[in-house]
Amino acid sequence: MPRIGEYFGRIAPSLEWSKLFSGSGTEGSLAFWFYRLDKWGLLLFETAQMAALATLMGATAGLVLAFPAAGSVNGTLVLDRGDVNLTFKRYLQSRVTLTLEDDHITGIEGEGTDAMLMRRHLAAFDRNALAVSHVGWGMNPRARYEALSLYGQRDTNGTELRCVAGNFLFSTGANEFAGRYTEGHFDIPVFNTTITLDGEVVVREGVVL
Ligand SMILES: [Fe+2]
Repeated sequence: MPRIGEYFGRIAPSLEWSKLFSGSGTEGSLAFWFYRLDKWGLLLFETAQMAALATLMGATAGLVLAFPAAGSVNGTLVLDRGDVNLTFKRYLQSRVTLTLEDDHITGIEGEGTDAMLMRRHLAAFDRNALAVSHVGWGMNPRARYEALSLYGQRDTNGTELRCVAGNFLFSTGANEFAGRYTEGHFDIPVFNTTITLDGEVVVREGVVL
């Protein structure tokens, strides 16, 4: 510990403005301090791009979704124990009943922790966070329902849960097709539901037909 200052002094770059962009053989240049900084920066950028693309491709191949037009969502959605709120990365432990009127959640009923979490979290955002964002259903038979329980919260963003075959993926928040923007967003895979599309059943009691 007494020599920690010395250590940081040694690893800190000794850069000189006039030599900053000189080659790796010139002391005082960026290249001298950090060998192949440009390549490293490019690789870092490409890695980030690949990760984003892989996440997007994995999600698009594993689920279908749509952003409903403005003024088209009304009804009641009952979230049961075992459904998932991916914002909290949590399997629900108690029932939550959502009332939806004119695209917006107007009621969050429920006795347990899950209803309280949703109410309190949504209260931190503007009214658009209460609106419906996208809806759809999972298509990937290899996506595992229990995946979320196998990782720490910081090690997953729950994409696999969004793709579990037959889940009804309900979400709240921004919907640019309806002209609504907000930072609040819930993605909620709902299980054991029946989904009908233009009169045709596509998912029956949680099973893709
Ligand atoms: Fe989403």
